[in-house]
Amino acid sequence: MRNGKMTTQTLIFGHRGYPAKFAENSLEGFRYAVDHNIDGLEFDVHLTKDSVPVVIHDETVDRTTDGKGEIRTFTFAELRQLHLTNGEAIPSLEELLTTVATSNTQLNLELKTDQIEYENIEKIVLEMISQAPLVKPVIFSSFNLETLKKCQKIDAAQQYCWLTMHKVPDAATFVKKAGLAGLHLHHRQADEVVQRIWTINDTFKIRHLFKQGVAGIITDNFEKAGKIRDKLMT
Ligand code: G3P
Ligand code: MG
Repeated sequence: MRNGKMTTQTLIFGHRGYPAKFAENSLEGFRYAVDHNIDGLEFDVHLTKDSVPVVIHDETVDRTTDGKGEIRTFTFAELRQLHLTNGEAIPSLEELLTTVATSNTQLNLELKTDQIEYENIEKIVLEMISQAPLVKPVIFSSFNLETLKKCQKIDAAQQYCWLTMHKVPDAATFVKKAGLAGLHLHHRQADEVVQRIWTINDTFKIRHLFKQGVAGIITDNFEKAGKIRDKLMT
């Protein structure tokens, strides 16, 4: 509390953009969120057959587009013929970076290498990020610790956070030894050393985490979380 008002350091990250209102991982959702001053955006990156980083959650296009098949089997040009539920194409990482560039929105880029190890994804993505005119440093995350280790070798100066569903014994020592910026924990493990927690949509939990002061929550509805934070701060 300061001057009778509660303060919190907790930032609100849109999980896959703004899926409560727009197609997940769509430029439309990202653009809306940036235009409405979201703190941060979490999104997922895979590589096409011709090594173009694209923003989509699953390993296949089946659930979120009108196509079928694994992302790695499509060239970028082929992938762009498919449609998300809002009619847009699957965004490239480059398009997302252009949408966010020069805004105050922080990016949490999840490298989706837990099922498929895309050749050189770490180098390709880190290079692209290093050339983007972003205001805030990118937070890189992955369920695959080896991916984060590869990233550290390429660029040790970035922030890397390990995503995990499981309890990490002596989490603080683990994070320090691994040279990580922290853990991104599933909400059921939220009593561990935490940087950011996903996916938090419940009003009571959102309020509790703001009071606790974790670095960030990753939510499907950033406007709802923003209203809860505003209420706590007034
Ligand atoms: O980065 C947090 C969260 O997105 C991890 O799970 O499956 O939604 O990518 P998932
Ligand atoms: Mg994700």
